[in-house]
Amino acid sequence: MKAWAYESMFGILMMVGSVTWAASPELPRRVIIDTDPGTDDALAILLALNSPELKVEALTVVPGNVTAAQGIENALKLVSLAGRPDIPVAAGARKPLLQKLVTAETHGSNGLANISLPPARCNPDPRFAPDLIIELVHRYPHEITLVPLGPLTNIALALSKDPSIAGLVKQVVLMGGAISGGNVDAVAEFNIYVDPESAQIVFNGGWPLTMVGLEIGRKTLFRRHHLAQLRKTRGAQNDFATDVLEHLINLSEKYGLEGAPLYDPTAMGAVIDHALITTQFIHIDVELRGEFTRGETVANRQNALNRKVPRGDRLVFEGTEPLQPNVHVAMDIDGERFVSLLIARLSGK
Ligand code: RIB
Ligand code: CA
Repeated sequence: MKAWAYESMFGILMMVGSVTWAASPELPRRVIIDTDPGTDDALAILLALNSPELKVEALTVVPGNVTAAQGIENALKLVSLAGRPDIPVAAGARKPLLQKLVTAETHGSNGLANISLPPARCNPDPRFAPDLIIELVHRYPHEITLVPLGPLTNIALALSKDPSIAGLVKQVVLMGGAISGGNVDAVAEFNIYVDPESAQIVFNGGWPLTMVGLEIGRKTLFRRHHLAQLRKTRGAQNDFATDVLEHLINLSEKYGLEGAPLYDPTAMGAVIDHALITTQFIHIDVELRGEFTRGETVANRQNALNRKVPRGDRLVFEGTEPLQPNVHVAMDIDGERFVSLLIARLSGK
């Protein structure tokens, strides 16, 4: 039975396969995925496209793991692989706001673990990604969840062009940042590092923002026994995902990890089931000038600054000034429950 849904006076009744369940009126949740696909982006996108809780309104592509051109090619192939060539896929920025693009070769030369996917069955949407984001947020006020999985260039451009979207989105749930050490250098996480200026704009946009940082992916490792479980079923998406995950596990084992951290997929998991994560409301700033720290998401856990008071020829610390928290930072995740969800949603697809 094809998935179909109709609105009823008691909310949306979703018939998915042979399972009937009554969902809350807010489901399915409309999402826009901004992505730099990217191996883990691909897993997150397939998870979203195979989760009845979500309605993917568009994919918008940003350069990061791969160039903008490679990213749009990969995104078109991914929606085609999932049987959803109807989903708008729009290109956006060609480079970060100020600095040169830095790509991540760890995703393979094509960004998808060097796996060749069948040709795309759709073409790019002609709209510029930031404009498509603005258009959809206005079309569905207070319903759209933005899910950025790459550098925040498109999101910053959309917010700068139309600041009113900050009060019209339902939520922003992004993969990015770190509060316990970076993956690019001592402190910076890749998505923020590639475009810190855009990140500072987004983190100070005054909208409901959840940050799913590196610490969450590091607590959610996809291990070889998980891979064996997913390999028990077959399907085009299932098989592609197992090949991507094997690439990621092989890469992670080279760094001494027992499995592949699921960075982008855990951000998508937090959209599907927010109860998977626990968050703390913290003031975050993005470092733009530090010689060793540019691109760090600086977490002020106290949400306060010490006040400096003049005293003769010096200043003294006396009391504190409050700092308004601006980001719901994911502090923990039920990693095994998320991995089970990911396997269940991709099995046999
Ligand atoms: O640091 C991890 C993030 O950078 C993930 O989004 C990955 O896809 C890369 O974009
Ligand atoms: Ca990504």
